[in-house]
Amino acid sequence: MSQQDPPRLRLGSKAPNFQAETTVGNIDFHDFIGNGWVVLFSHPEDFTPVCTTELGAFSKLEPEFTKRNVKLIGLSANTISSHGKWIEDINEVNQTKLTFPIIGDKDRKISFMYDMLDRQDLSNVDEKGIAFTIRSVYIIDPNKTIRLILSYPASTGRNSKEVLRVIDSLQVGDKYGVTTPIDWQNGDDVIVAPKTTTEQAKQKFGEIQIVKPYLRFTSVPSKA
Ligand code: BEZ
Repeated sequence: MSQQDPPRLRLGSKAPNFQAETTVGNIDFHDFIGNGWVVLFSHPEDFTPVCTTELGAFSKLEPEFTKRNVKLIGLSANTISSHGKWIEDINEVNQTKLTFPIIGDKDRKISFMYDMLDRQDLSNVDEKGIAFTIRSVYIIDPNKTIRLILSYPASTGRNSKEVLRVIDSLQVGDKYGVTTPIDWQNGDDVIVAPKTTTEQAKQKFGEIQIVKPYLRFTSVPSKA
């Protein structure tokens, strides 16, 4: 097993480019991102229970991502042919039609580059001695900048609606220069950013609710 550390990807890092085999053909990742947003997410293994529910949920929610100019792309270290057979199960179990690409990262090169491998020690490996991919999520914007990174344990399925909620927050934030509070949902009031004076905020947004000088709410049109 390699002792080399993967590159340090952080919020604000440029998403590294790669070429990959996927269930819908070969891709260059930067070309795939194009001028839109991308959710790149990994799962540990095809034909496993939690992953089957997750991929089904993302597939069902895909129209909402598409409305927001977001493409989904999955990844695991299984082969394209394994993904293809598993998609039939995902569709049957979740009553969906999964169409987004899933990368076959057999040699784990992309998983390594994106820090999607579990801890690298001798006890945490598959039958070939290689670490499993974890449940990672990367949200990447049209500038190819990483805007969100999540890592979940294998035992816990993610929340597809939470990923969509973060997309809404980031897109509203980018458009209006605002931030969003705890448990915010699309359409709720947003927070005026500290760098905006109340006078500027009134001119830009109209009504402002001042709870504290540093905590000011306003409304912006809801998305999608
Ligand atoms: C699952 O999807 O259920 C799973 C996959 C790998 C390890 C543990 C659980």
